[in-house]
Amino acid sequence: MKKKLLSLILAAAMVTTMLVGCGGKEADETASNSAPVADEVVEDDAAPAPAADEGDAAGGIQVGIVLPTKDEPRWLQDQAQFESILGDAGFTNQVLFSQGSSATEKTNVETLVSQGIDVLIICAQDGAAAAAAVEAAKAEGVTVIAYDRLITGTDAVDYYVTFDSFSVGAAQGQYLVDNAPAGSGIPLYLYAGAATDNNAFIFFEGAWSVLQPKIADGTFVIANSSEAVGLQDKAELTRDEEAAIIGQITTDWDFNVAKSKAEAHLTAASADMKGDVLVLGPNDGTARSIADVFATDKDVSSYVVTGQDAEIASVQYVIDGKQSMTVFKDTRTLAADSVAMAVSILNGETPATDTTYNNEAKDVPAKQTNIVVVTKDNVKAALIDSGYYDASEFTGL
Ligand code: BGC
Repeated sequence: MKKKLLSLILAAAMVTTMLVGCGGKEADETASNSAPVADEVVEDDAAPAPAADEGDAAGGIQVGIVLPTKDEPRWLQDQAQFESILGDAGFTNQVLFSQGSSATEKTNVETLVSQGIDVLIICAQDGAAAAAAVEAAKAEGVTVIAYDRLITGTDAVDYYVTFDSFSVGAAQGQYLVDNAPAGSGIPLYLYAGAATDNNAFIFFEGAWSVLQPKIADGTFVIANSSEAVGLQDKAELTRDEEAAIIGQITTDWDFNVAKSKAEAHLTAASADMKGDVLVLGPNDGTARSIADVFATDKDVSSYVVTGQDAEIASVQYVIDGKQSMTVFKDTRTLAADSVAMAVSILNGETPATDTTYNNEAKDVPAKQTNIVVVTKDNVKAALIDSGYYDASEFTGL
């Protein structure tokens, strides 16, 4: 542990330097190698131990990262940033994917703990179910940082690093308001993320804060949720009320669920719920599925659909006019913030936080990052000029 601490301290200066000039670097493929695989289901990549780690006991892993799935490009963006930042800074690290399973997630945490990690950075598959996994890590003296998604119902979460998720939802809602056709009675289709993800509630809360006044005054008419219609005069919803709505409009963050729900909604929709419509698409993967369904309905003359994550495929959809907007959540910043936090903790300092999130057991100190709305108009400035993506990834820029 002492040797690990020393290497972390040595690495701190490097990380600090890197954070200042944090660019759009991809994972360094030449510096990656495979660590022993604990489980076939999990992805298992470890950067080698650069100079600062040479003394690390038994080649153990210092920082363990657990991400929800590699089937969504969003999390591959995060993986690339972690491997780049941690590898360059001289930390041994390992990124494991839970592939949609809380059981695999728990095994992943146990694997990392058995490899001697000091810090666990975890984006939970299911915010409530992950409590048991982080409690097990905490019991072994590991510092737990919840990454992007809050883990609920446990005091075993030390810190939370997140984007401003309320603003994500509010930006999606505001985009629909600003780009709605003129007049009133405009059909509004609502979709949400997985009910097991605390973020899905925060995104919806943000969107509702902007959309609800327009629904209440008749400008928009909810097309696909009787629960939301029943609550349309309430500006602020309780968690249970949100859960009732999300229960009807959840995509489970799954492209196929999103597609079949959109198909079912359009099949059931009356003629006055077609024409020029608005769609609250919760993230990019589901937005693309939903957009494809709306685009092929001959009675839908136009649709405005939101997203988030700035996935490459959705950025192309935005350029092509098939998805109206996305929300850029700069994974470089989130990964760098998490690493900086880990370094502070291991140096015995109090990491910088700027807010707290209540997880039903405690107020978790949190570091929050701003988001950027991306449309056709600023896609180049936001994503190419900032070095996040290369222009060669897209056509028609
Ligand atoms: C993340 C989103 C992501 C979604 C589905 C949410 O918790 O904040 O960026 O699109 O999960 O993976």
